[in-house]
Amino acid sequence: MPDVVSFTAMENASRADYDLVFEHDMKNIQGQADRVIQWMEMMGGDSPYKISRLDHCLQTATRAQSDGADEETIVCALLHDIGDVISPANHSQAAAALLRPYVSEKNYWIVLHHGLFQGYYWMQHYDQDRNSRDALIDSPHYQACVDFCANWDQVSFDPDYKSQPLEYFIPMVRRIFARSPGANL
Ligand SMILES: [Fe+2]
Ligand SMILES: [Fe+2]
Repeated sequence: MPDVVSFTAMENASRADYDLVFEHDMKNIQGQADRVIQWMEMMGGDSPYKISRLDHCLQTATRAQSDGADEETIVCALLHDIGDVISPANHSQAAAALLRPYVSEKNYWIVLHHGLFQGYYWMQHYDQDRNSRDALIDSPHYQACVDFCANWDQVSFDPDYKSQPLEYFIPMVRRIFARSPGANL
């Protein structure tokens, strides 16, 4: 098989061309966990909080594990703010999109909406409705997202909390991204 496609416009491509592209895509998917870990490492360093964004994520995930959460939920807690790296203006949606092919609808929903739900803790300082999240109160996942924020996310800015290091969570991240991704084109 050639290692470069024959076409310059997709409308002229053959099945063999797409076989080559899809083979490359599969390898790209297999490298996803490595890229996720690199993005997490990029969250270390300066932050206006008392701890780095990486340490906030580690603390959130450690609290989830301490409360007996399953592995998928722990990984979602670890990665819930990873959108800050590539799309800070909509970090919840970016993180949720990253996780969506690999996790349950419930965990996807929690990550997707956690930014709005976290507004409960800051919006009142800016004359905004801290209960804006109640527009989603009919969702079966509403309370789980409230709990995610209350118990794990909003409390995880504590420099005295002893979190597990990133290395501890890496095997979990690899297992979640080794799952067969659902098709979300
Ligand atoms: Fe967040
Ligand atoms: Fe967070």
